[in-house]
Amino acid sequence: MTRVFSGMQPSGDAHLGNLLGAWVNWVRMQEDRDCVYCVVDLHAITSPTEHEPERLRERTVELATGMLAVGVDPERSILFVQSHLHEHAECTWLFNCVSGFGELNKMPQFREKSAGKGESVSVGLFDYPVLQAADILLYHTDEVPVGDDQRHHIELARDIGQRFNHRFGEVFTLPKAVHPRAAARVMDLQDPTVKMSKSASSEKGIVYVLDDPKRIEKKFKSAQTDSATDIRHDREEKPGVSNLLEILAATTGRGVDDLAQEYDGQGYGTFKTAVAESVIETLKPIQDRHAQLVDDPGEVARLLAVGADRAREIAAPTLQRAKEAMGLLPPHAA
Ligand code: TYM
Repeated sequence: MTRVFSGMQPSGDAHLGNLLGAWVNWVRMQEDRDCVYCVVDLHAITSPTEHEPERLRERTVELATGMLAVGVDPERSILFVQSHLHEHAECTWLFNCVSGFGELNKMPQFREKSAGKGESVSVGLFDYPVLQAADILLYHTDEVPVGDDQRHHIELARDIGQRFNHRFGEVFTLPKAVHPRAAARVMDLQDPTVKMSKSASSEKGIVYVLDDPKRIEKKFKSAQTDSATDIRHDREEKPGVSNLLEILAATTGRGVDDLAQEYDGQGYGTFKTAVAESVIETLKPIQDRHAQLVDDPGEVARLLAVGADRAREIAAPTLQRAKEAMGLLPPHAA
């Protein structure tokens, strides 16, 4: 069966970009694929400004709860916390030795996050995509459902796997990214030229998965559009309207052009209300399930322990094969 792997950082509350860019596919792919989903806490300690030890513990549980609320099914899929398996960090070291300084230095996300920080940028932030490659390759992953911003990281994982196989023999499966048709890059509602992100300067442009209906309506009503009145999909000329059209397409399952035709001429007010309503309706069942799950944090911890054991059954033998292929001496049985 096709193997799927994806992860998300516990570095802030989940937002509409995470849901539409990634989680919707995570849930759908469980129908006919073998899925492994991960809370990538080791990635969340790469930036000192975002890393608060006490909050990280809470956020890890909160994010796992969010994944379950969205519909990750622990009966069918594996759900676990990255740091519960030492295999991910260990495999990263092996991959560090087949990765080039130049290729990591070119990663767009690293360039963005390190801009203006000079010498204080952590080695962890630089090495972040190599850890991500280890996450993916340890599970013989075929497909990685992610938003468009992760495209380069998945390509790098593929390159690292290919290079390793070429030098040391066939150990790793080469993955490919899977992006949603609409809303692969959800933009900030206040500044539709930048992606919706946990690190945005204002909360007004971000719709969180757990926002209540009133707040969602307010955020969409004040979403930045333009001074014209026509509704059409044109990311260059009309980034605000195009972003709203994509959000509506992703939450209704309809085509962007079909929706543009229906709403053109009705005015931005009516259009924004329709988008807000569709988002509220999409989030309602998730929020209801979330409310039930938070009442039982012990159950979430138990599911994560089961998930880690199942993940290890796949990751440990892969790592062992990689170490042997590289010529590392296996320990002598005592
Ligand atoms: P992270 O935690 O930033 O985001 C989680 C997922 O949400 C998607 N996403 C978006 N999609 C559309 N529009 C947006 N505005 C938006 N913002 C976020 C991301 O593309 C991602 O799919 N490096 C990864 C986590 C990771 C990972 C992995 C992913 C670590 N190991 C292995 C896949 C496989 C990240 O920082 O995602």
